[in-house]
Amino acid sequence: MNRPALPRSADKPLFTPGPLTTSQTVKLAMVRDLGSRDGEFVAMVKHVRTELLDLAGVSQRDGYETVLMQGSGTFVVEAVVSSVVPPQGKLLVCINGSYGDRIAKMAEVHRVSVATVRAPEDQPIDPAAVEQVLKADDAITDVAIVHCETTSGILNPIEEVGRIVRQYKKTYFVDSMSAFGAVEFDFRACEIDYLVSSANKCIEGVPGFSFAICRRAALEATAGFARTLSLDLLAQWKGLEGNGQFRFTPPVQTILAFNQALAELRAEGGVAGRAARYRANHDCLLEGMNALGFEEYLPRHLQGYLITSFRYPSDPNFQFEDFYTRLNDKGFVIYPGKVSNADCFRIGHIGRLFPSDSRALLHAISDVVQEMGLELDPANVA
Ligand SMILES: Cc1ncc(COP(=O)(O)O)c(C=O)c1O
Repeated sequence: MNRPALPRSADKPLFTPGPLTTSQTVKLAMVRDLGSRDGEFVAMVKHVRTELLDLAGVSQRDGYETVLMQGSGTFVVEAVVSSVVPPQGKLLVCINGSYGDRIAKMAEVHRVSVATVRAPEDQPIDPAAVEQVLKADDAITDVAIVHCETTSGILNPIEEVGRIVRQYKKTYFVDSMSAFGAVEFDFRACEIDYLVSSANKCIEGVPGFSFAICRRAALEATAGFARTLSLDLLAQWKGLEGNGQFRFTPPVQTILAFNQALAELRAEGGVAGRAARYRANHDCLLEGMNALGFEEYLPRHLQGYLITSFRYPSDPNFQFEDFYTRLNDKGFVIYPGKVSNADCFRIGHIGRLFPSDSRALLHAISDVVQEMGLELDPANVA
């Protein structure tokens, strides 16, 4: 699975969790001006909203709606947190990384009562632990979980947790920022009320807006809950439904690019096709990194294929900044680590990348290992 022979930009490939490398055709789709009330743009917004439902395997007919929100992924997470928990409600946040932590922090900022269920950063959330808290605390009204905790790359069991959340009749919020579009799951079997992601993750658009796929009945029941004006999820949906327009200046060019990105996702075989490419990127990279003597942070059976955290080698000559800069100088962008209990760096497999890119990165890493005089022992890698 090599990169198709299409014109490619001279920019460095981004092996990061975002912003991500996008195709030339996605970038070129933006080179236009359209007014926010232009019929073509309004029709495109409607089309994009419908396509996102389709990607999730749900439809308006089944009672689901897409709300687009200006801003990066954090903005739509905050829109949900600040708009859907009732005034006297309580949000249970499942935390095994910094994006779960951020949800709890947002709730505190908005004076929403919070409870937490924690797991170590190298372990998935335990559904039984969620059930225990729900059983013990009647005040909880909503539950939030991160799908792929991008801090480490771990995938959380959103379906098992969702079944429990439904059993206890709570509202269920899934932050699927770095997974949606490239991880297959059954939206309805997961019992999701709100799922969020952004334009510039696995759908491979450019940054600038984010979106929530909402169960309409849940959304309609949130009247009067919003704690902000601009991030009011219900008002944003009503605006989009009313005249097809955003309430405030729309991210026109980002939507133009996203429309093209959705067409490219379809052409690739939808979620299954994209998952296959990202998995191939991951498998190629992991095998090569292990052969060089780098070890991943997560146990193999928990490692997702979207982003991988690698432990710093024990060789005292290893300095991340030096490693990063040398790779950058050779034309490859990787990312610092984010887990709190180990020194790691991260390599993303998402965006417009192919196994041929993983192989090129491996060559560059091998050269940098030599330049830095690192002594790595592949035999030490479990
Ligand atoms: C799981 C998750 N949630 C939220 C965010 C925040 O998104 P953004 O950085 O686009 O605001 C990210 C970003 O990588 C993420 O991975």
